[in-house]
Amino acid sequence: MSDPRGRIARGLADARTRSLALVDPVDDEALVRQHSPLMSPLVWDLAHVGNYEDQWLLGGVGAPRVGARSDDLYDAFRHPRGDRPSLPMLGPAAARRYLAEVRSRVLDVLDHAGDRLGDGLLYGMVIQHEHQHDETMLATLQLMETGYCPVAPRSPSGATPAGEVLVEGGPFVMGTSTDPWAYDNERPAHVVDVPAFFIDTTPVTNAAYAEFVDDGGYDDPRWWTPDGWKWRQSEGLVAPQFWQRDGEGWGRLRFGFTEPLPADQPVQHVCWYEGDAYARYRGKRLPTEAEWEKAASWDAAAGAKRRYPWGDSPPTVTHANLGGRHFEPAGAGAYPSGASPSGCLAMVGDVWEWTASDFVPYPGFRAFPYREYSEVFFGSEYKVLRGGSWATDAVAVRTTFRNWDYPVRRQIFAGFRCARDG
Ligand code: AVJ
Ligand code: FE
Repeated sequence: MSDPRGRIARGLADARTRSLALVDPVDDEALVRQHSPLMSPLVWDLAHVGNYEDQWLLGGVGAPRVGARSDDLYDAFRHPRGDRPSLPMLGPAAARRYLAEVRSRVLDVLDHAGDRLGDGLLYGMVIQHEHQHDETMLATLQLMETGYCPVAPRSPSGATPAGEVLVEGGPFVMGTSTDPWAYDNERPAHVVDVPAFFIDTTPVTNAAYAEFVDDGGYDDPRWWTPDGWKWRQSEGLVAPQFWQRDGEGWGRLRFGFTEPLPADQPVQHVCWYEGDAYARYRGKRLPTEAEWEKAASWDAAAGAKRRYPWGDSPPTVTHANLGGRHFEPAGAGAYPSGASPSGCLAMVGDVWEWTASDFVPYPGFRAFPYREYSEVFFGSEYKVLRGGSWATDAVAVRTTFRNWDYPVRRQIFAGFRCARDG
C-alpha cells in the first residue's frame, strides 16, 4: 500500500463530498424535519458523522476535541431514531461548520501522524461510517414526501436471463483476518464446510416478484412463516414498499416520483419475511450467509478467496452498480464482468441481499474498537444482509462485509436471491 496518507485523505474527502452533495438540494426545513419514525432527521445524521470523526480521529489519538459536549446528543444508543427530533440538535449551518472544523483538525493530525498511522484502521472505520450514513440518508430521502430529484443517469438494463448455478460441497474460508478495513464482525477468517447447493445467478427481479404478488402470494399463509404471516396481516402488506398499482401492472415511487416498474431490476424494499415467503413459493429458500459468501468469493479451482466477486481489484463502473451512481438498481445481469467464480452476478451492488442467517459472531470474535459497532446486536433479533446496494460506496463493501437489520424492515435498499439444496 503506497502513500497510505494520501489514500486516507482522499477517502475522507470523497466521503465528505458525497455527504454534502446529498443534502445540498434539501432545504433547511426538510433537513430538520423527521420524515419517518424509522429515520433520524437528516441534520442529525450529518452532525453525528462529524461527532464520530471527532471522537475517533481527534479524541482517539489524544488531539483536542471540537464538540465533546455534543457526544450525548449524537450517541445513537442514548437516543433511538424516533426520539431524535426533540433533541437540541445543531441546526443545518452549525452542523456543516462542525463537520468542517473537525475535518480541518483531523487533516492536521494526519499530516503529523508520522509512523503512528499504522494500517489506518480507525481512518477506514470513519470513512466507511460516513458512507454508511450517506446510504441511511438516501433511505430517508426516498421516504421524503416532497420528493428528491436525483441528478443521476438511469441504470443499464439487464443482459442475462435468470438461472441458477451449483456450488459444489466442501470447505471454504469465511470472513477475514487480514483485510485492513474489515470490521470486527467480519473477523476472524475461519473454515466452514458448506454442503452443495444451488443459488440464483441474479437477485429476484421485479417481474418475477410481481408473479408472486399477482398470484395471491400475499394472501396465502402457506408461503409465510407464522411470524411473517402475523406481520403481513397486522401491517396489511400487499406488495413491496413503494410499489403502486398502474392499471393492470405495477409502478413505483422513486424518490417521490411515480414511474413504471422496471421489470428486469432486482426487487427492493422488501423485508426478510417477504423474501422468505417468495422463496418458499418458488420451492426454494434464502441462502445462508455462508452459502452467499462462498458463492460470491470462493475460487474453488485456486483454493483462494476473493475480496470482490471478480477478484481483488477495487470496483470500477464495469463491475458493479455502487456509490449512488444511478439512484436505482441495474437490470439483472447488467455487469457480466462482475461475475463471481461460481458464475453469480450482482453479488456486490444493486441491492442488499437478505440471507437466512441471524447476525451472530464468528468463532473467535473479539469486539474492536468498541462493543456498540457489532457486539450489542448479536443474537436472533437481526438477519444478515450481504453485498451492498446501488447506494453503498465501493469502500464500504466487500465479499466479507456483513450488514444486519430487523426482519420487518423495508426502507433499506434490500432484495434477495434464492437458493436450494444441492
Ligand atoms: C451496519 C448499517 C447496521 O446503520 O446501524 C452506523 C452502521 N453503525 N453507525 C447502522 C452504523 C454506526 C449500522 N449498520
Ligand atoms: Fe453512526
